[in-house]
Amino acid sequence: MTHPSAHPSDDPNPPGDKPCSSPPCYAAEFPGYFGDGPAQQVVDGLNALLEAERAGARVLAILRDSVDARSPLHDLLGALQKDEGANAVQLYQTLRRLGGAASHETGAFVGKTLAIEGLVPRLRFVNKGQAWVVRKIDELLPAITDAYARTMLEEMRRSHLANIDACEAALDGLPAG
Ligand SMILES: [Fe+2]
Repeated sequence: MTHPSAHPSDDPNPPGDKPCSSPPCYAAEFPGYFGDGPAQQVVDGLNALLEAERAGARVLAILRDSVDARSPLHDLLGALQKDEGANAVQLYQTLRRLGGAASHETGAFVGKTLAIEGLVPRLRFVNKGQAWVVRKIDELLPAITDAYARTMLEEMRRSHLANIDACEAALDGLPAG
């Protein structure tokens, strides 16, 4: 439909098929799309992983300190704790480097794990959390274009699978409960 009697700029509701000479700038609503920062999906995904790894580091420190310091399990939990802490640092630094706002929160995983009674059930719950992280990385990777971030996530995925296996093996040697 045309409006022959009015100049287009006078029309408060111009037809949608009429090209706008000066389109509004939506760049702030789509960071990443215009090359000025990561997409919100990437920021949200990396922050979810950051909060999970931070929580994992805290929980594993508590679990590590709850077992005999001379036991192999203490060494294993200490190694897992270091991995989680290093992952949190890498995720935080990656978010900052890409220009995303890094979360300062710790995931609810700490409270959920400690609400469970017994070391073995807690470790099984930790492994479920680790498997969640692997799935989250799988979801996120297709959206990641930054080469360093991709390499970091792929390595994080690999180390999570290895740590899940190591934790499973340790659980097999522990009395249930
Ligand atoms: Fe983790």
